[in-house]
Amino acid sequence: DIKGFAFDLDGVIADTARFHGQAWHQTADEVGTTWTPQLAESLKGISRMESLQMILDAGNHTDDFSQVDKEALAEKKNHFYQRLIATLTEEDILPGMKSFIHSAKVAGYKMSIASASKNAPMILDHLGLANDFVGIVDPATLTKGKPDPEIFVRAAEVLELSPNQVIGLEDSAAGIESINSAGQISLAIGDAVVLSAADLIFSSTADVTLQSIQSKMDKIKS
Ligand code: G6P
Ligand code: MG
Repeated sequence: DIKGFAFDLDGVIADTARFHGQAWHQTADEVGTTWTPQLAESLKGISRMESLQMILDAGNHTDDFSQVDKEALAEKKNHFYQRLIATLTEEDILPGMKSFIHSAKVAGYKMSIASASKNAPMILDHLGLANDFVGIVDPATLTKGKPDPEIFVRAAEVLELSPNQVIGLEDSAAGIESINSAGQISLAIGDAVVLSAADLIFSSTADVTLQSIQSKMDKIKS
């Protein structure tokens, strides 16, 4: 039986995936990589330094920047991103997610955060959700990012549940792969083609409720 949920943050709880995109778009322009929707999609769920490397690789700039330059580019992106998220409030919680989190809490489910973002604690604070989670996996302590299972394995440990008692929620292909390899049930929010590896797919956060999850679970069992 399902006893907990492990949530990605950006693009699942908060409408911040677009801010990461906006900030990386600026970096891409600066280094001379053409920004495309495909590149934007492939960066979802990927850590800051790995995202930068993917932007450099996409423009054939793999070896054009020193480690010091790369750190400066990543820091600049983060400053720009932090300016964009500074004004976040409860209003920026994605549709339906506040009520989903609260009803899951009332129903006795335990919840944790499995986000690659070092800005996650600050964002949860802005959204007024900091107290709804048992714990947040600290991405600084991970040896590998998504799509490796490590972050979702740790998110289940935080909940003191076995993987098959947990549903992981994600908006990225890398995240769905991470959840699946961690042995959890994967719930995707977004494009059914991009996220086809997920067990349960929802096109919008607004559709995610305890009832709708249960009915999709019944369908995959039958
Ligand atoms: C999340 C986002 C990514 C972002 C990563 C690191 O996974 O989906 O777009 O690159 O977190 O975020 P940070 O805030 O630490 O740069
Ligand atoms: Mg995400």
